[in-house]
Amino acid sequence: MTSFTYSAGPARVVFGSGTLTSLADEVRALDASRVLLIGGGRRAQAVSPLGSLLAAEFAEPVMHTPVEVTEKALAVLRDHDVDCLVAVGGGSAIGLSKALALRTDLPQIAVPTTYAGSEATPVLGQTADGRKTTLRSAAVLPETIVYDVDLTLDLPVEMSVTSGINAMAHAVEALYSPDANPVTDQLALEAIRRLAGGLPKIVADRKDVTARSDVLQAAWLAGTCLGTVRMGLHHKLCHTLGGSFGLPHAETHTVVLPHVMARQAPEVLARIAEALGVGDAPTGVYDLIVELGGPSALRDLGLAESDVDKVDPEAGALLHEAWSGTRPPQRGLPDVRKLTAQVVDSFEGASPRVRSLMQDLVRTLHSYVLRNDLTEQEWMSAIDFLTRTGQITTEIRQEFILLSDTLGVSSVVDVLTNSRTPDTTPSAVLGPFYTEGPPERPHGFDIADGLPGTPLWSDIRITDTAGSPVAEAVVDVWQSNEDGFYDVQLPDLDGPVLRARFRTDADGRLTFWTILPAAYPIPADGPVGAMLDAVGRHPFRAPHVHFMIAKPGFHTLVTQLFVAGGEYLDSDTVFGVKDGLIVDFPVQHGPAPDGRPVAGWRRVDFVFHISRSTDGV
Ligand code: BEZ
Ligand code: FE
Repeated sequence: MTSFTYSAGPARVVFGSGTLTSLADEVRALDASRVLLIGGGRRAQAVSPLGSLLAAEFAEPVMHTPVEVTEKALAVLRDHDVDCLVAVGGGSAIGLSKALALRTDLPQIAVPTTYAGSEATPVLGQTADGRKTTLRSAAVLPETIVYDVDLTLDLPVEMSVTSGINAMAHAVEALYSPDANPVTDQLALEAIRRLAGGLPKIVADRKDVTARSDVLQAAWLAGTCLGTVRMGLHHKLCHTLGGSFGLPHAETHTVVLPHVMARQAPEVLARIAEALGVGDAPTGVYDLIVELGGPSALRDLGLAESDVDKVDPEAGALLHEAWSGTRPPQRGLPDVRKLTAQVVDSFEGASPRVRSLMQDLVRTLHSYVLRNDLTEQEWMSAIDFLTRTGQITTEIRQEFILLSDTLGVSSVVDVLTNSRTPDTTPSAVLGPFYTEGPPERPHGFDIADGLPGTPLWSDIRITDTAGSPVAEAVVDVWQSNEDGFYDVQLPDLDGPVLRARFRTDADGRLTFWTILPAAYPIPADGPVGAMLDAVGRHPFRAPHVHFMIAKPGFHTLVTQLFVAGGEYLDSDTVFGVKDGLIVDFPVQHGPAPDGRPVAGWRRVDFVFHISRSTDGV
C-alpha cells in the first residue's frame, strides 16, 4: 500500500494557437488594468494584444533572478502604479515576475516560450551576492498561464532540445519522488511520451505545429509535476552545477539526466521505458539526446575535470560518467527502435489500410517481444504451436478460428461490427460448424429427425429495426445434439440433421421443432485444446442454437440464442455469450401448438431485429 499527500496549485491555463490575443481578456479577468510587461525579445509580441492595458515594460530579466535586477524592476513597477504582471519568455522572465509577485502580491500571467515549466510551479530561485537560494510559496505561483504554440515555433532547435529534456527531467524525478502519487505519475508518463514523440519531429522540422503543441503540453504537465512533488538527486546535482560552477541550466539537466536515471529503481525505470517506447530507460534517454543533437558531456559545458569531485563527493562515479559523456551501462532491454522503424517503413508502399494494419501489427508484435523479454525458445514454441494449428486444419476442422475464438478475438471483431448497429439483435460468433446451403424445410418441420432429446418448439419472428416484419428472409439454423455434437462431427449419422434453412412468411415468422441444445466442448484434441488444458481452462460452450438471417437489402445477422440457466453461461470458452441473447426456454405441459403428441416439451419465442443496409451502417 502507498500513502501520499497531494495538493494541486490553483491555476487557469489557456492553451492553443493564437491565444496571445486573449491576453487583455485574461488581464481583465484578474480585475487588473495596468500591466508591467516583462521579458526579452518575444515580449514585443504581447504589446499590441495588451493595448491600453500596458502601463510599463521591463526588458532585462536575467538568469537565476539576481535581487539587484528585481529591485530595479520593483522601481519601475511602483513608478507606474502597476496592478498586474505579465511575463513573456523562459525561466528568466517568469522568475523575475515571481520575485516581484513575492514582494508585491500582484497577480501574474505567465506566457512561456520555452519548455522550462517554471510557470506551473510555486518555486522561486533567486541569487544574492552570488549565492542562489530557492523558496517555495503559493504567493509566487502565476494565477494564469497562456500557452501560445505560435510563440514557440521560432525557438531554436538546440534550445528546444535542451529545454525539452529539462522538462523530461522534471517528469522523471516526479516518478521517483517520495511524494509520487497517482496524479503526478500519470502527468509525468504522459509528458515523457509526448516529449519522446515530439522532440525528434521538432528537430526534423522546427515549425511542426503538432509536435510543438505536444511538447508544449508536455512542458506544462512536467512543470505541474515539478510544482507538486519534491525533487531529488537530479535537481540537487544540477542546482550545484549551475549555482557553484556556472553551468547553463537546461544543458546541464540534459547531460545529467540519463546518468541519474541509471541509478534509480528498476520498477520506475520500466514505466519510463514503456512511455519512451524503448527497452531500457537510461540508455533510451541518452540515445534520444544524442539523436537530437543535444549535449552529452559536462566537459563540453565547460566543467573542469578537477572540479568534478567538488560537486558532490557522494555522486563521484555518476558525475565522472556525466563529465566524459559515456553512455550509461545498459541494464534493461536493448533498444530496438531503429529496427522497428525499419520494418514499419518497409510497408510505406502499401495501400493506406494495409499499410496502417501491417505497421501497427509490427509495432505491437515488437513491443510484445520486448516487454516480455521473449526467449528464442519461447518464440520457437509459439511458431511450433501455429504450425500445428495449420497442420490440423482441414475443410471441416478450422483450428485457426478456434484459436481466434478462445482468445476472444472473434468476439471483439464481432462486438465492433455489432456495436455499429445498436438497434439490432446482438450478433455472436459463427463457429466452425456452419455448412453452406443446409436443406430447405417447411414451417413446423422437426429438424431433430427423431434424435433423442427434450422436444423444443421454436417460434421465431424477424423484423426490421422499426418492428415491421421481414418476409422472405432466409434463416439458417444449426445446433448440437443432446450429447453436444454437431452432425458434421458424427460421420456415421445420415445427415444433415439439426440444421436447416427456413424462409419467413408474410408476418416475418417461422416455426420448427428441434431438441434442447446441450453444453459441449469445442474440439479439444488439437493445439487449441492443449493450450486450454495447459492453462487450466475448460473447453465448454454454454448451450445454444445458431441462427444466420439473410435478406437482400439487410445486413446479414449471425447470432446464437443461449438457454437461460444453462451451464457455462459465465465462462463460455469462446466468450460468445451476450446478455441480450440469453433467453428462457420454459417447460410446457399443455398440448403442442401443432397438435403433435409430445410430453415435457419446451418452447422458445424470440424476435430478431435486423437492420437495412441503407441504415447508414
Ligand atoms: C460453436 O458455437 O459452434 C463454436 C463457436 C466457436 C468455437 C467452437 C464452436
Ligand atoms: Fe455452437
